[in-house]
Amino acid sequence: MDIQDKRLIEVDFPLKQTSLDSVQEKNVRHGHISTLHIWPARRPLAASRAALIATLLPDPGNDEERKMMLDKLAGRIVERVKKKKSADGRNEEQNIVETEGGILHWGRESGADLQWFRDKIREAYGGRAPKVLDPFSGGGAIPLEAMRLGCEVTAVDINPVAWFILKCTLEYPQRLANQQRPLPAFACQSREFMEAYFKAKGLKRAALEVQLTAHGLPKEGTAQPELTGIETQVTSVEADLAWHVRAWGWWVLQQAKADLARFYPTIDGKPTVAYLWARTVTCKNCRATVPLLKTRWLCKKDNKRVVLTMEPNAERTGVVFGVLTDAPVLKKGSAAQKGEHDKQLAGGTMSRSGVTCPCCGTVMTMEDIRREAQAGRLSEIMTAVVVDGNHGKEYRRPTEEEISMAVEANQELSKVYAEIPFGLPDELTPKGGSGASRAFSVDGYGFDKWYKLFTPRQLLALGTFVKHTRAAHEVMLRQGYSQEWAEAMSAYLAINLDRLADYNSNICNWDPNGEYITHTFQRFALPIKWDFSEINPISKTTGSYEGGSDWVARYISHAVLANSSSSKAHVHTKSAIQAHEEGLEVILTDPPYYDAIPYSDLMDFFYVWLRRTLYGLSPEIDAAFQKPLSPKWDHERNDGELIDDSSRFGGDKQKSKANYEDGMARVFQSCYKSLKPEGRLVIVFAHKHPDAWETLVSALIRAGFVVDGSWPIQTEMGNRTRALSSAALASSVWLVCKKRAENARPGWDNLVLEEMQRNIIQRLRYFWDAGIRGPDFVWAATGPALEAYSKHPIVKKANEPGKVMGVSEFLGHVRRMVADFVVGRVLTQNGGSEAVSGLDDVTTYYLLHRYNFGMESAPIGPCILYAVSCNLSDGLLLGKYDLLVRTGGQTKDEDDEEGEEGTVDEAGEAETEEGTSSTVKLKTWLQRKNAGMEPVGLFNGTAAPLIDKVHRLMHLWRAGDVSKVDEYLDSHALGYNTLFGQLLQALIELAGAGSEERALLESISNHVKDRSGVMTNRLSWVD
Ligand SMILES: C[S@@+](CC[C@H](N)C(=O)[O-])C[C@H]1O[C@@H](n2cnc3c(N)ncnc32)[C@H](O)[C@@H]1O
Repeated sequence: MDIQDKRLIEVDFPLKQTSLDSVQEKNVRHGHISTLHIWPARRPLAASRAALIATLLPDPGNDEERKMMLDKLAGRIVERVKKKKSADGRNEEQNIVETEGGILHWGRESGADLQWFRDKIREAYGGRAPKVLDPFSGGGAIPLEAMRLGCEVTAVDINPVAWFILKCTLEYPQRLANQQRPLPAFACQSREFMEAYFKAKGLKRAALEVQLTAHGLPKEGTAQPELTGIETQVTSVEADLAWHVRAWGWWVLQQAKADLARFYPTIDGKPTVAYLWARTVTCKNCRATVPLLKTRWLCKKDNKRVVLTMEPNAERTGVVFGVLTDAPVLKKGSAAQKGEHDKQLAGGTMSRSGVTCPCCGTVMTMEDIRREAQAGRLSEIMTAVVVDGNHGKEYRRPTEEEISMAVEANQELSKVYAEIPFGLPDELTPKGGSGASRAFSVDGYGFDKWYKLFTPRQLLALGTFVKHTRAAHEVMLRQGYSQEWAEAMSAYLAINLDRLADYNSNICNWDPNGEYITHTFQRFALPIKWDFSEINPISKTTGSYEGGSDWVARYISHAVLANSSSSKAHVHTKSAIQAHEEGLEVILTDPPYYDAIPYSDLMDFFYVWLRRTLYGLSPEIDAAFQKPLSPKWDHERNDGELIDDSSRFGGDKQKSKANYEDGMARVFQSCYKSLKPEGRLVIVFAHKHPDAWETLVSALIRAGFVVDGSWPIQTEMGNRTRALSSAALASSVWLVCKKRAENARPGWDNLVLEEMQRNIIQRLRYFWDAGIRGPDFVWAATGPALEAYSKHPIVKKANEPGKVMGVSEFLGHVRRMVADFVVGRVLTQNGGSEAVSGLDDVTTYYLLHRYNFGMESAPIGPCILYAVSCNLSDGLLLGKYDLLVRTGGQTKDEDDEEGEEGTVDEAGEAETEEGTSSTVKLKTWLQRKNAGMEPVGLFNGTAAPLIDKVHRLMHLWRAGDVSKVDEYLDSHALGYNTLFGQLLQALIELAGAGSEERALLESISNHVKDRSGVMTNRLSWVD
């Protein structure tokens, strides 16, 4: 490909389809990469696939062919009415927008069209596989997709857990794809296992029985059925990697069951699902044992309401629990009354202020509890047991045996951990704090070592599974598996062990609405939980070992298919700052973003278990897990994990931020060196703070890149943004860069701005016509606008010798232009001319905000972006200009479990939504009582914003004093102000039909027209 060739992504991109399919992917369950192992902030496969294809392939240079390619890639968007069951079981019709065709939707990623793209890509690179690198691979979404497209992939991550996951997602499936070998004898001899195997192959009923009987596994006590034409003489069963992993998972489970069954007794023939616990403190007043309960709901569904009852015991030294099935419903009354009734019925002992003693009513504050916890005086009490009954889950009091078994587990621990390398995981948990460390509160409550995040019985179970997983490897080798197979299978068993740990820590909850156990990483944090639940790992319930085996095997089946004709993946654990292989065609990567996620501290939860399970598997694995915990920042080598975490810099926030930015700059330089002259770098940025984003863009430009494309791909769709789709928050911007020409010369600001305006206006029209709206519009325009600027190594100021125009200043011009363009469309009927001029910043902001979010709450991220685009800040709009008000979702109180919900997809993978942690909304005109009064000094002599004047007039009009209205109009020369007329008209259209706001605005508008004859109609713009 020629250096000058444009790539498809630099000209067009199927933004809407990619966003839709990326969001839809969150609902995928079996086989998806996110179901193999937790990794924070995994990118959607659909977005990764689309970006890779559009970056690897040249733009065809003509509309027709481009359209054909985009259709093949992403299909088209269709609206359908679908029947769905509502929460209360009714059938509802819903309008669904989805894609049809293309290869981005989950389930359409194989087939003829994908092959077409694979062939096209090979052809574009002279018949060979292009080389692709992801230096921050994490959970592997990008490299997996690059492999699927037939590229030669290098996947790098500094974190050994990520590296290990990458081996399991990419390397083993590729190496062992297309290989089959006989299933082990123990699997072939198990009717249960073989039944599952043959069922998965599609055999049913009689045919299934024939196969099982042919394998010497007839149903006990039944006559052998006969079917003509069905092969019954099968001697051995050849199976792929996924089935071998299932077989060995089954083997481990049988061994573990033999050791653990007595600790999970089955009472009355009903298998135990989970034990529910509450932590306890001693009341500072009456010394009673106080359970720390957030709620006493055990099950809260429309047709099933079960409550944990609680009363002081006779001596008032603690409480007695019971279970109330069929808890009463308040049939009549408002929602608030019903809520209050349920609260009285099943409220916990905890509130925001602390815990109330059920025996004497004394409140112990959160600080009291923290102090007790740090002194090691928290204990726990089993409150209830969940069992599998004949008609669903049942709840009952724990028996003496169950209580004593939980305690007895403690005595077995030393024996089990004596056999495990490195013993009990006593490495330190991360310390809580601000910035990145805000994710952790366990340490503050005395849970300062990893093993403390598990009850003794949980530790016993995990230790037992580790022991047998390790033993399985030896047995595999003895049974004739190659080193390669045995390593891969043991690796997947270790992955399943991590899944078990995720569902089997003492910070997992019982979900009374769904009646299932929630896992540790519901969001990417480790918060203390007051009441928690303990799973039965040897059962068949959600989160058990058996369930986990199935998830793991299903991923393998998917990956084997995806990678079956790929070239080898190179997976390395090293820093992205280091030099990479040279001659790369594409680097596509999703770097860590400032203090958003403390990857290594979080994932040490798994590191400590993997280190113990995998030790001795291969010299490479031992080297990766050599240290007690994963790498953080190495001050001596000036290298390490790139996150902004001031605790690694003695609390110095500036230093930490600068270190992150410097590290990223070095990564960009290293990427530059590895890329071929015509190569492309695509970087995914989370975009909460435009200023932080600008720093990274500056570093890219300094490293030698020209930024020439940016696509805001939506990967999250919370309820709020769903309702406001025009302003939906795209969670990431995919920035496209190419190498700057070596002979590039410095530019001049006036010429660069002119060029930018010329280029961008076409792009703005194009984006607008393509239906891109809201903050996405600003982000989509930013990349193409940057081309004019970044093609010069430096941009000098023509009128200020010796001075340069920085990225920030340049982007300030770009954003303002984009904002004016949008406001121009709001103020005019059909749009056309590109921008309005003369409208003040605050009014511009008001219109942008109102147009996109109305008067509803909006996430702060896009509001900051709009504010910056208008030369303002969120602080100014909340304070000095009194235009916005906070509406909640502020910084989460880590001690408050209310704030622990996170966004959890159905596959159990949680994502953090960057930039949405707080919300704001516009103040209504009524709330803005002082608007337009202009107290001396507020606006430093400049006129009040036009929107303030409108609001002032509305107050005056409402008060009924027309002479004051006229006086105000005259003294501010509004009668002949065209912009004022346009603004009034736009506000009328933005106001709700029939609202007082609209009526007032219409009256004022008519009055102004009557008085001055000024046209308040929208102007017709000339294109
Ligand atoms: C946003 S995540 C990548 C997620 C990935 N795209 C996925 O789909 O799972 C950023 C990754 O950068 C890794 N990382 C942080 N500092 C690094 C460094 N210096 N070198 C390489 N990887 C690093 C983290 O371990 C984390 O996995």
